[in-house]
Amino acid sequence: MQKHHPLCLIKEKIVNYMHSNYRSKYHTPRFAVVDQLDPVVTLKDNFDTLLVPKDHPSRKQSDSYYVNSEYMLRAHTSAHQSNLMKMGLDHFLVVGDVYRRDEIDKSHYPVFHQMEGVSLIDNKMLSKMSDNIKMFESGEKTVEKQGVHTRDISMLCEADLKNCLIGLAKALFGQNIEYRWVECYFPFTHPSWELEVMFNGEWMEVLGCGIMEQQILHEAGISDKVGWAFGLGLERLAMILYGIPDIRLFWSQDSGFHSQFKDATHESKIKFKEFGKTPQNFNDLSFWLPLDRSYDPNDFYDLVRDQGGHCVEQVSLIDEFFNKKKGLTSHCYRIVYRHMDRPLTNQEVNVIHNQIKQAVAEQLGVTVR
Ligand code: PHE
Repeated sequence: MQKHHPLCLIKEKIVNYMHSNYRSKYHTPRFAVVDQLDPVVTLKDNFDTLLVPKDHPSRKQSDSYYVNSEYMLRAHTSAHQSNLMKMGLDHFLVVGDVYRRDEIDKSHYPVFHQMEGVSLIDNKMLSKMSDNIKMFESGEKTVEKQGVHTRDISMLCEADLKNCLIGLAKALFGQNIEYRWVECYFPFTHPSWELEVMFNGEWMEVLGCGIMEQQILHEAGISDKVGWAFGLGLERLAMILYGIPDIRLFWSQDSGFHSQFKDATHESKIKFKEFGKTPQNFNDLSFWLPLDRSYDPNDFYDLVRDQGGHCVEQVSLIDEFFNKKKGLTSHCYRIVYRHMDRPLTNQEVNVIHNQIKQAVAEQLGVTVR
C-alpha cells in the first residue's frame, strides 16, 4: 500500500500488464483489483472452501497463525477466491499480506505478500474464443483434466492461462527470458503448474496456477463457467527484478533502502545497491532564507558535506513555507548521519550537527533554529 515501495511497484507492474492486455466491453479494465481485504479470515475460507484435506500439512498449528478455532491470518490470497466469486466478480486480482510460520533468514519471513488472479470463462466469452466447444461432460479425472470438464475446455483454459502468465513473465523480466512449466499439485486446482524462470543460472519458481476445481465454483453458486487461477509472491518477484538480496529489506525503514525507489514508477529500471549496515541517525535543521542575497539549496548541501564529510549520508529539504507577516521563507532540512564502518554515538552526531549549524549561520548569514 506504500507508494514507491518496491512491492508496490511490482503490484503496479502486474496490474498495468493485466489492464493493458485485458479489456471488457466499453474498453474498461477486465480485472478488478482488490487490495484492502482483512487478513483475518475463517479457517473455512483459508482451507475448507478450497478443498484442502483435513490432514494437509498447511493446517498444522506449527504452520499457520490461528486466532482461535474459527479464525486465522490468511496463509494465501486464495482464501478470498470463493467470496469474491459469490459477490459476482468474474475476473479479479487480490493483493495482500499473507502469514506463515516460518524461519527468518534472507529468503524467509513469516509475513509476505501475494497476488491472486482469477478469471472465469462463460459461454459468451467461449463463443468468441472458439466455436462449438462444450464445457462439461461426465467423464473420468485424468492427469490432463477434471472429470466434469471436456478435454476441449480444459485445453483452452490451460492455453489461456499459460498465455497470460508467460506474457506477464516477459513483461516483468524481458522478452528473452528462459522459462519452463512444472506440473504440480494444489488441492484447489487441477491440472496445476508452477512457472519457473531462469535467473542467475538457476531455475526459480515464480508462481503457482491451475484450472479451478469445478466443485469450488459449484459451491459458490456458479455452474455455467470454468475458471483458472494463479498465485504469486511479490517479494520473490521484486528480489529477482530489482536484485534485492534479502527479504528482510522490504521491512527496512532505512532511507538507504527507500531512497533507491523514491522517484521510481513501475516502468523504471532499478538495480538495488548495497547500503551501509551501521545504523542511521537523523537530525533536522531549519532557518529563514536570507533576503539580502540569492540562496540555493545546493549551497547548503555543499556546506553540510564540507563539515560532515564521511559521516553524512543524505541531506534533503523536507519542508518549505512562506511566512506572510515576516515576508520570509523557511527551509527545513533533514540530515542523515551514518558512518560506513562503525555506529556513530549521539554525542559525535551532535558535535557535527552543531558545527554545521555554526557554519550555516556564519557563511549564509542566517539564524538557525
Ligand atoms: N495459493 C497457492 C500458494 O499460496 C498458489 C496458487 C493460487 C496456486 C491459485 C494455484 C492457484 O502457494
